[in-house]
Amino acid sequence: MTASSVEAFRELAQRWGPLIDAALSARTDLGEGCPTRLREAMRYSLLAPGKRLRPMLTLLAAEACGGSVDAAMPAACAVEMVHAYSLIHDDLPAMDDDDLRRGRPTCHKQFDEATAILAGDGLLTLSFEVLAREVQPPERGAACCAALARAAGPCNMVGGQADDVCGLAAGEDAGNDESKPQSSLSDRLVFLHRRKTGAMIGVSLRLGGLCSDASADQLDALDQYGQRIGLAFQITDDLLDVRSTQEIVGKRVGKDAERGKLTFPGLLGLDQSAQHAEQLIANACRCLEPFGRRAEGLGTVARYVLDRDR
Ligand code: IPE
Ligand code: IPE
Ligand code: MG
Ligand code: MG
Ligand code: MG
Repeated sequence: MTASSVEAFRELAQRWGPLIDAALSARTDLGEGCPTRLREAMRYSLLAPGKRLRPMLTLLAAEACGGSVDAAMPAACAVEMVHAYSLIHDDLPAMDDDDLRRGRPTCHKQFDEATAILAGDGLLTLSFEVLAREVQPPERGAACCAALARAAGPCNMVGGQADDVCGLAAGEDAGNDESKPQSSLSDRLVFLHRRKTGAMIGVSLRLGGLCSDASADQLDALDQYGQRIGLAFQITDDLLDVRSTQEIVGKRVGKDAERGKLTFPGLLGLDQSAQHAEQLIANACRCLEPFGRRAEGLGTVARYVLDRDR
């Protein structure tokens, strides 16, 4: 681990984290109609100490494109809400069946399964309300809604999760090859990671660009950067599952092998996986060149994705 990249990310997180948390808290201080237990479950998971990587990417992308934090904050909140929902559902007994998340009992352990399912539903739907109501002008709000729905939906995050839990990526074919045009195991793995994890990271950046009047070239550069850090992020998640500890990552480790998940460490081994992630991050940093110094924050995040310890 490179201490300086982790330290640089920590400084960024100190700057942006409290702003993001306050914005998330304000938007989930729900009033009449929302049962207390449901609100508590939503806030329990959403406000738990995660890294806030995706909302930071939204704000840093806005910064790189010369936009304002205020204009991008609703989108930053929306991506973290969708992410928190995806984690709540990912941990359910019917999916990864995990007890620990962000160093705390998972939502269904702290509350109950039905409440956890509904808390996820509540965060997902609230995210689109936030975008539709708060992003101005309304056409931009609609563009953000469409982009987030596409990334979170059945052809991306939800589709990747479906393949992940069914073991389809590992080659247990359900007989429908149309959704999986790739053939080799490593192509399937990249396709899985791109949808399961990469799409939400990519859209976090894109929303920051959309809220900042980014040019088509800027959006494209953000997309190229996002594809590379998105894949690297899941590779390092899989590496941490093999070589870190529960105390450090705040979630159970060793679970991917136990469940027979197809991962880069499982396919290529630890060293080659780490090298692949390193290559991806070097390429990601090159995609930031057109932004100059305004993309320093995004460069810091890229290096952290490689060196992160949690
Ligand atoms: C965990 O995401 C789920 C994956 C996509 C691998 P993070 O590692 O960003 O989780 P938090 O938000 O910091 O808890
Ligand atoms: C989950 O991937 C990705 C999501 C879309 C939530 P993992 O199942 O590997 O994430 P962790 O390891 O539980 O955080
Ligand atoms: Mg999972
Ligand atoms: Mg999981
Ligand atoms: Mg994992």
